[in-house]
Amino acid sequence: MPGETEGCDGYIIFEGLDSAELARAHGWIAEHSYWAAGIPIEVFLKAARHSLMFGVRHPAEGLVAVARVVSDRATFAWLCDVFVDPAHRGCGLAGRLVKAVQAHPDLTALRRMLLATKDAHTLYAQHGFQPLASPARWMEIHDPDVYRRSSFCFDAR
Ligand SMILES: CC(C)(COP(=O)(O)OP(=O)(O)OC[C@H]1O[C@@H](n2cnc3c(N)ncnc32)[C@H](O)[C@@H]1OP(=O)(O)O)[C@@H](O)C(=O)NCCC(=O)NCCS
Repeated sequence: MPGETEGCDGYIIFEGLDSAELARAHGWIAEHSYWAAGIPIEVFLKAARHSLMFGVRHPAEGLVAVARVVSDRATFAWLCDVFVDPAHRGCGLAGRLVKAVQAHPDLTALRRMLLATKDAHTLYAQHGFQPLASPARWMEIHDPDVYRRSSFCFDAR
């Protein structure tokens, strides 16, 4: 938690991370996430380049939280890579990030916004997300070991 005198004030939510912030966000996701552990930096940077990136800055510490949105900016969005630096959790930053995503002008009139979570359902439920109404209609190709295969080959452009 932030220091007692500092409280939970002074954070700024913004869109568009600079390169140092992207490197910090990559460290969190590659080293501490359960969904994209080991993601190579070039993959993360390409994903970021083609996504809407939201961050939270602390006045003294810089970037302390991130969220990524994959979207066509008209009908659909996928909210992912939500991560708050452990020292800044419990201040409502994840909730503020979700609100900022939902208020983005390109994301307010979508037919569907999706996300997947292991254990943070109540966080997202506070912002209108509900379990899939018809999970039987959904299918996926999931390759969690993609980055670990020796044959992994990636065009970073
Ligand atoms: C989950 C995470 C993003 C929450 O960040 P945070 O800034 O501490 O969350 P907030 O302070 O905005 O808390 C929002 C609410 O969600 C609740 N919550 C639900 N599931 C939670 C979880 N797994 N972890 C933390 N809070 C959770 C909190 O209790 C809180 O409820 P309250 O407002 O009624 O007290 C943060 O713990 C994190 O980065 N975890 C590791 C990565 C991760 O799991 N990301 C989410 C992937 S879907």
